Amino acid sequence: MLTDNFGRQFQYLRLSITDACNFRCQYCLPNGYHAEHDRQFLSLNEIDTLITAFARLGMRKVRITGGEPGLRKDLPDIISLCRSTAGIEQIALTTNGFNLEKNIQHWADAGLTALNVSADSLDTQLFASLTGQAKLQTILRGIAKAEQSGIKNIKLNAVLLKHFNGQQLDEYLAWIKQRNLAIRFIELMEVGSNKTFFNKQHISGEVIKGKLLDQGWFAMPRAPLAGPAQEFSHPDYQGRVGLIMPYSKDFCQNCNRLRMSAMGKLHLCLFSEQGINIRPWLTAGDVKGTCEAVRQALTDKSASHSLHLHQTGATKHLAMIGG
Ligand code: 5AD
Ligand code: SF4
Repeated sequence: MLTDNFGRQFQYLRLSITDACNFRCQYCLPNGYHAEHDRQFLSLNEIDTLITAFARLGMRKVRITGGEPGLRKDLPDIISLCRSTAGIEQIALTTNGFNLEKNIQHWADAGLTALNVSADSLDTQLFASLTGQAKLQTILRGIAKAEQSGIKNIKLNAVLLKHFNGQQLDEYLAWIKQRNLAIRFIELMEVGSNKTFFNKQHISGEVIKGKLLDQGWFAMPRAPLAGPAQEFSHPDYQGRVGLIMPYSKDFCQNCNRLRMSAMGKLHLCLFSEQGINIRPWLTAGDVKGTCEAVRQALTDKSASHSLHLHQTGATKHLAMIGG
């Protein structure tokens, strides 16, 4: 089992398979994605070595992220590779949903067990102005298809934004009244490139929490392998609500995840260093060497991020490492 100096155990890997994205979310890639140079993202063989090594180290859950992972043609192969690796029990995907409607059945058939789709507004116009893509309706149809596909664990991610969804809590709640889905409200995080936007749009998750408690929602216990969300349920609603509040005290105490960039760098935290290059072992197909490199790197993991001090580390935007 992978354990750090603070006794935290790591059974959850977030694997970015590309940093390219076709959306222009204002807090992430407002000017769209521009490749810095000719980039070779991790190949299927390299991913195989990586997943085998992490499974050997006790990883049980892999979340595939981007950029936008749906842009990779071999996504079904990556999913089935994870599925066929002994020890990996959960394979999740975080997507902007642009090709969900078309592909979800392939992804489900390949072995996907959980799906997170981003929708920062349920208003068609606001969604388009926020993301630069008028795709809300196809995304919602994609989610409906996902519900039919056999995937049990489906979530909608919404980054809390004062002037986009800050007043739309009721719309989101109405949407899960009869749906067995979860909504995740994520507090906007400051990154290197979104400071002005952050100052205009940030609202604390505590505001939403207060409203939920007032309306009869109650906090649920944290599930094993779960992310950092505080979850709420309500007797009159089939769906659940989760709040991710990275600025809250003790947020990092339950950290159970590590991150890999699409270029083969291990990130010990969203907001830390440049990443530790473990690609040479992946390219060589060296599972044992990968395990040793990861174990060694983990001895440097810090107790907490320093976001409250506006120290955003080397992270310019989350498309770099998939949130
Ligand atoms: N703050 C909070 N959430 C963010 N995401 C991307 N950038 C940020 C940010 N600066 C979200 C995406 C997606 C998830 C992977 O992370 O909207 O839902
Ligand atoms: Fe793309 Fe996600 Fe960034 Fe939006 S938040 S631009 S969908 S990577």
